[in-house]
Parts: sequence; C-alpha cells; structure tokens
Amino acid sequence: MEAKMRISRDYRISEIDKRIYGSFVEHMGRCVYEGIYEPQHETADEQGFRDDVKDLVAELNVPLLRYPGGNFLSGYNWEDGIGPRENRPRRLDLAWKTIETNEVGLHEFIEWAEEVNSEVNMAVNLGTGTIDDARRIVEYCNFPGGTELSELRKKNGREKPFAIKTWSLGNEMDGPWQIGQKTAEDYGKLAAQAGKLMKLVDDSIELVLCGSSSTEMPTFASWEAEVLDQAYEYVDYISLHRYYGNQENDLSNYLAKSLDMDFFIKSVTAIADYIKAKKKSDKTINLSFDEWNVWYHSNEETHNTEPWQVAPPILQDIYNFEDALLVGCLLITLLKNSDRVKIACLAQLVNVIAPIMTEKDGKAWKQTIFYPFQQVSDFGRGIALTPNVHVASYDSKDFKEVPYLESIAVLNEEQQELVIFAVNRSESEVINFEALISEINVTSVIEFSQMSGFGIKDINDKDCERVYPTISEAIALVDDKVQATLEPLSWNVIRLSIA
Ligand code: AHR
Repeated sequence: MEAKMRISRDYRISEIDKRIYGSFVEHMGRCVYEGIYEPQHETADEQGFRDDVKDLVAELNVPLLRYPGGNFLSGYNWEDGIGPRENRPRRLDLAWKTIETNEVGLHEFIEWAEEVNSEVNMAVNLGTGTIDDARRIVEYCNFPGGTELSELRKKNGREKPFAIKTWSLGNEMDGPWQIGQKTAEDYGKLAAQAGKLMKLVDDSIELVLCGSSSTEMPTFASWEAEVLDQAYEYVDYISLHRYYGNQENDLSNYLAKSLDMDFFIKSVTAIADYIKAKKKSDKTINLSFDEWNVWYHSNEETHNTEPWQVAPPILQDIYNFEDALLVGCLLITLLKNSDRVKIACLAQLVNVIAPIMTEKDGKAWKQTIFYPFQQVSDFGRGIALTPNVHVASYDSKDFKEVPYLESIAVLNEEQQELVIFAVNRSESEVINFEALISEINVTSVIEFSQMSGFGIKDINDKDCERVYPTISEAIALVDDKVQATLEPLSWNVIRLSIA
C-alpha cells in the first residue's frame, strides 16, 4: 500500500503546550505506596521514594502530574497530609475502599515531582470539600508569607511558595460513583465560586473545570454546556476523560478507537465555543484531556480484591503490543488537536493503568506503552503540522473510513528537527510511505525507530522486556522526499535534521 504525506511550514496547527505530555498520580492501588514510595526498598531515598522509579519517570519525560486524584480526591482532606508524619491520621478511602495512611502528602509529593522535573496540576476536592478548603490550599501552596497558612507551610519545611500554576476543580462530578456527585448546575455554581476565591488568592493560576467522565455518560454534551454556562468567567480549561479497551478482541476496530477520541475533542471544542458565542466572550476555553489510556485488562482482578487494604493491587493492567499501537494513535490524535488540547494526562503513572510497573522489594520495569509516550514526549516538541495524507482506509465494526496510516509531523526549530510519528494499522500490508517536504530544508535522517514484528499480545514483565523500539534502515532521503517502509502493525518515529 502507498501513503503520501505533504509537509509544509504553512500547515501549522499550533505550538504544542508541553503539558500535553502530562501524567497522573492518584492515591489509589499501588501508585503512591509501593509505586513511587517504598521506604524499605533498597533504592529508597531519605524521604522513602524509590530512586529506580524516579529514574524511569525522568526517562519518560513527564512535564506535568495531576494529583492526588481521581475518585480519591472527592473524599480527601489535604490537611491530613501535612505536618509531622507521626501525627497524620489513617483514614478510610471510600472511593476505592482502601486505607489511606497519609504518609505521603502535599509536601512530599510536590518535592518528589520537582525532582523528576514535573510541575503539579493540583486538584481540589469539590465532592465533600468546600470553597473555603479550595481557597485554603491555594493560600498554603502559593502565598509568599505573613498569613497563618503560608507561615504553616514554612513551619512544615517549605520557605518558598510551591507556585502551582495549574489547578483542577474536582473530579468526574457527573459520575454516580463519585463521592458528592452533583448536577451540572450545582457543580457549575460551586466550581465558579471555588474558582473565584482561588483566583482572588492568586490571579496567576489556571483552572480546569470538570467535563464529562466519558462520551458514554447520559449527560454528555448537556453537562459541558451547563457547567461552562455557570463557570465560564472563572475557568480556563474544561476536562475530558476517556479509557479504551479491546474487550471484543477485534483488532481493526480497537486500533480505530482514536477516532472516538477525536470526536470527543471536536465535540467539546464546539460546545465551549457555543458558550463563548452565547456569552459574547472574547475568552476561549481550551481542553484538558486529563485522563486517557487503555483500561480493561485488570477489571476482574480488581473486582475480586479484598476491601480495606493499604495499597491493594487494583487496576494493574498489563499492556501488550496492540495497546502500544493504540496509545501511539491516541498520542497522534492529541497532537492533531493541539490548537485546543493544551493539557493531557496519561492515566496513571505507576502500577495503576500505568507505563511503569514495580514489584515490592524488587524491580521496576517499562510496559509496552512506555515507549510511544516517551518518544512523543521527547521528540514531539515545537509546532504540530496538519497531516495532509493520502492513504487507503477501511470500515470497522464501529468506525467508518479509518485511514490505514495515522500520522503527524512536528517541527522543532529549536532542536532543528522535523519528526514524523506514524502508526500502520494494517495487519497484513507494508506501507510504502513518502513524505514530500516543502519550505523546510531537510539535510539528513537522524534516526528511524520502529516497533513492529511482535506478537500482538506480547507483553513486557519484570524478567523480560520483549516489546521495545529498534532502529530501522528502511528509509531514504531523495531530494525533498523521505521514503520509508512502515511494517504492518507498526509504531514509527522518523527524525530528520533540518538546516
Ligand atoms: O484513573 C482511575 C480512575 O478513573 C480515576 O480515579 C477516576 O477519575 C476515573 O474514573
């Protein structure tokens, strides 16, 4: 099969906000305890955080971490996690039916995030929490000093403000499973007032309003319109959450699910712009896709887990090669929409539906999905260019006209690189790919990296890393054209040097 892509500086979508490569750390399962934090581990630092995990997180290159939840957030009191550890309460976490020890709290987490080079997207509890709790945490974190809360921060060991820029107003407030679920009107009003107070404390912060928990929610679309109508003035982003799975074991349909993500993004953009027009506002609300990933492998195991444990092994999806291909398609979809998606968080970071896994007292390793995420975060910086592609398409069970090639080019002028990310969705056919490049002077091929040839259900585990990218020589630069062979079912990264 042939595929032709035209690349030009003129096809600019947007400068990519680095926060699109964010991830998510929730106090649930083994994400925090036995994940990033395990004081008895041989690599633990003075604070009890595992150095081997820190190294993998730094390698993954995650500029933003949403914290501390998730469903956990809606019953959490952030003040339980500050002050001397020995005085912190053990609490029931009603969201996941576990015990929260509060050994890790706000200071420990933010300082850990600083070490791995990430900013924090701090979420405030609008389930059981009040607008005053939301005001207090902003003052505690961001106010320089001279007030009770800012001085308490200093007493607890942090002289300089944490200077947190991105804040989330609650979590999935439309969901019947959510502690303190609300109607769109009630949540919109509460979020507006919480946001107003938070910005009175620090007007440099940016706020994310909760959108729908997925496109499948019965209130999807009307929820977005109502909450934005209530809170438009005070917020900067609206959130989207979506997880995918291959429950039916239908590969061609599974790999097409990034088209659903595209539909979701386009729909929420349209609703945000409708409210903008309705309010005759000159402010544009952008999107925070702050939970996305594959999540389905672990459902049964999670269901059978005993309640009220500390750090139970829940949501421990083990990812295979087909999941890595879908994650590649989802990353390309985020980039295609980078004019409106400014924040996105792969959910989650360690052990819980995560690219990194750990064993208690043992190893840490990379799941298959680690690689596409790392490569796009490393090389997908700069300007996203509209993918002008000609390639054949197919129909699957749920989707029409699915292109066999999912791809995008990113121009990084600072590094003098042009990078092409591409997934070949075909199960049987090689794609003879040709990119015609105008107005960009490509001087050489830096690297053509490919993940292909694996069994579709192949996984990585603590003893064997089977699925990872390798270098391919099947690439040529001929005048202003790049020609490459994209193997059936492959994830591809082509890095070109530009003058
Ligand atoms: O990421 C796991 C859970 O998925 C989060 O706690 C919740 O926000 C979503 O339903």
